Amino acid sequence: MEDYLVNPWLLETIALAKQADPNRVRPNPRVGALLLNDLNQVVGSGFHPEVGQSHAEVFAIQEAMQNGAQLERCRLFVSLEPCSHVGRTPACCDLILKHKIPEVWVASKDPNPKVNGLELLQKNGVAVHYTPLKEAIELNKIFWVNQLHKRPYIQLKMAESSNGFVTAKRGTGTPISCFESRQHAHQHLRHRVDAILTSAKTVLIDNPVLNVRLENETRELSVVVIDREGSLLKHPYLRLFYPRSHSRIVLVTDRITSVPELPPAVEVLPLAFVNGLVPLTELAQALWTSFDMAAILVESGPELASSLLRDQLVDEVHLYQSPHDALPSQAVPSFSKDLLDQSLMISTENCGEDLYQCFDFQHFN
Ligand SMILES: NC(=O)c1ccc[n+]([C@@H]2O[C@H](COP(=O)([O-])OP(=O)(O)OC[C@H]3O[C@@H](n4cnc5c(N)ncnc54)[C@H](OP(=O)(O)O)[C@@H]3O)[C@@H](O)[C@H]2O)c1
Repeated sequence: MEDYLVNPWLLETIALAKQADPNRVRPNPRVGALLLNDLNQVVGSGFHPEVGQSHAEVFAIQEAMQNGAQLERCRLFVSLEPCSHVGRTPACCDLILKHKIPEVWVASKDPNPKVNGLELLQKNGVAVHYTPLKEAIELNKIFWVNQLHKRPYIQLKMAESSNGFVTAKRGTGTPISCFESRQHAHQHLRHRVDAILTSAKTVLIDNPVLNVRLENETRELSVVVIDREGSLLKHPYLRLFYPRSHSRIVLVTDRITSVPELPPAVEVLPLAFVNGLVPLTELAQALWTSFDMAAILVESGPELASSLLRDQLVDEVHLYQSPHDALPSQAVPSFSKDLLDQSLMISTENCGEDLYQCFDFQHFN
């Protein structure tokens, strides 16, 4: 079949994959699959709905069987290379071979080094067609960054005055963005990550809650705080220490710091600081490997934000720009916009009186 005839079916698998709620699928990829019979009719389709549940191929095959399709005369289209290893669920390649599906079309490879589904299928006589689609990689950019860089997908949020300051008065947390921007950040940023990363400095100045507040729901969110000496523990009434049932506070301390007693839900991640600063790549990799954090949002001041950008650890920047100026003699300047040079601006919209812009570094390519 020619590529121009195939792409609509592969694009359809991407549309199927998008039916899954990313918060339920993470850290797995979102995947869609469909089966066409020899009359080019869709006889089965599905998507991976939740981590631990069946993969998309399983749902498509089950539906095709219920429809009485002859699988040995069908073509399988799938947005991601079928898995060849047994993880939380059996390998999809075994299922494809068991049902003698003769032809498989795939829109993106799996960056997980454990997976070599295309090769395995080919070796077993399946006609494998790999037609890479950028939409299929974009769909799973979090998964790609996790697998390629062994760290969470990192988004950075910053609110700035129109003349580029993050707080109107040094040492205070004066709000910069409007109500609509804050709502937007809860809905589109905090709601879609596993944790927020910030510094003890910002927590002590701003005293934020750092949970998710949606129109009809308030949700806990884990927080990672870079706190070299565990100084937050001296302030038990910080709003961050609200009672938690399923989230945690991770304090990133220097390896040599001894932290005596930890309140409930607080854990310590000891790392060797260098010249007073935490090694950020090591921190990011520890959050992925030891804390299963696949996507995090940075809500810190400009010093930590600049370090992360300089170390190329930021995948997306979300800027909320107020139309109001701050007084330069009293205010704290934001990070340098030269640090956005390698990024693409991928969206912009008005949030109340503010301008929202999103910049993407495409580290998954
Ligand atoms: N407008 C906004 O969106 C927004 C958001 C958050 C905060 N803020 C404001 O930002 C201000 C604080 O900003 P800030 O730039 O001074 O502080 P920051 O970026 O929040 O934190 C910087 C501190 O983190 C620690 N740190 C440890 N390792 C680091 C590393 N590798 N790189 C960088 N920092 C590291 C250091 O603290 P130690 O030296 O103490 O170890 C450093 O001083 C506050 O006024 C707050 O209200 C604004």
